[in-house]
Amino acid sequence: MIMKKIDISSTINRIKLSSCIMNASGVLCSTDQELSNLLNSSTGAVLTKSCTSIPRKGNLKPRYFEWNMGSINSMGLPNFGIDFYLNFLEKKKTKKPIFLSISGLSIEENFFLIKKANLYSKITAVELNLSCPNIIDNEEELGYNFYKISDFLKNIFKFNKKPLGIKLPPYFKDKHIKKMALILNQFPIFFVTCINSLPNGIFIDTKTESTVIKPKKGFGGIGGPIIKPFALANIRKFYTYLRKDISIIGCGGISCGKDIFEHILCGASAVQIGTQLMKEGISVFERLEKEFTIFLQKKNYTSINNFKGNLKSFQ
Ligand SMILES: Cc1cc2nc3c(=O)[nH]c(=O)nc-3n(C[C@H](O)[C@H](O)[C@H](O)COP(=O)(O)O)c2cc1C
Repeated sequence: MIMKKIDISSTINRIKLSSCIMNASGVLCSTDQELSNLLNSSTGAVLTKSCTSIPRKGNLKPRYFEWNMGSINSMGLPNFGIDFYLNFLEKKKTKKPIFLSISGLSIEENFFLIKKANLYSKITAVELNLSCPNIIDNEEELGYNFYKISDFLKNIFKFNKKPLGIKLPPYFKDKHIKKMALILNQFPIFFVTCINSLPNGIFIDTKTESTVIKPKKGFGGIGGPIIKPFALANIRKFYTYLRKDISIIGCGGISCGKDIFEHILCGASAVQIGTQLMKEGISVFERLEKEFTIFLQKKNYTSINNFKGNLKSFQ
């Protein structure tokens, strides 16, 4: 039997990716070594840890825990500060698109970070994280503030020239997704990433009858396989409501090639891997690429455009 060549390249708006698979922000993308590993891996792009204007130590440990169905974390944005990431990327020779994730703790800090990123040609795009659930005493995430976000974006696009995407929290009501999409449709946004961790989960160790992470009395953001249905639902609804030129990056619950297929079937143009990268390390990308390619081969698809967004309703 002659095997057809499978092309898993994609585009996020006008940004070309040799593979539709990349890392999710926050997982093994903080240090020099981790970022170098990602640059040398088969990912279609590299995304940094969400950074702030100055370094942060983050929350007290233990702040991450995983089990067979998912992960819980309350990292509190530990990062080396934007200058570390900009200096690292400035030194690297690579053709891979580089996405800088930023996560200011205030509106003003986000303006500062985006202005700074605009000065660096090595940054292909900015992923603006408006959905970090694990900051102690933070204002409400902008991703859940339908009143503030419109003005905030209006001000950003007065000066921003970089391709800009927004990392969104999960929404659980159709009207919230519709409302957010209507707001985002008014701006020259390149992409949205759906979804960040499900906020305010709890995991219990019944032996000790205690929570498993220290910060915030054990409450944290949930990732991994158990959040996949919510990620898929958010991707699907945003695909329906967003302007067609705004690409969607799917994130949430991917642990095998079939999961990638499901994200793209719902309308994602590319996917990010978080918890599974943490569990398995950098070799996860080769495995996923292989599984995804074999899955497409079996389905007789040769590229992701053959099925992207084509989810059918049950007849
Ligand atoms: C340890 C850890 C740290 C994370 N840090 C960030 C971060 O800095 N910025 C961000 O946008 N998302 C962060 N996330 C959320 C992930 O990028 C992702 O949205 C979420 O884990 C769902 O994907 P998954 O099911 O593949 O884990 C983090 C997740 C984990 C597990």
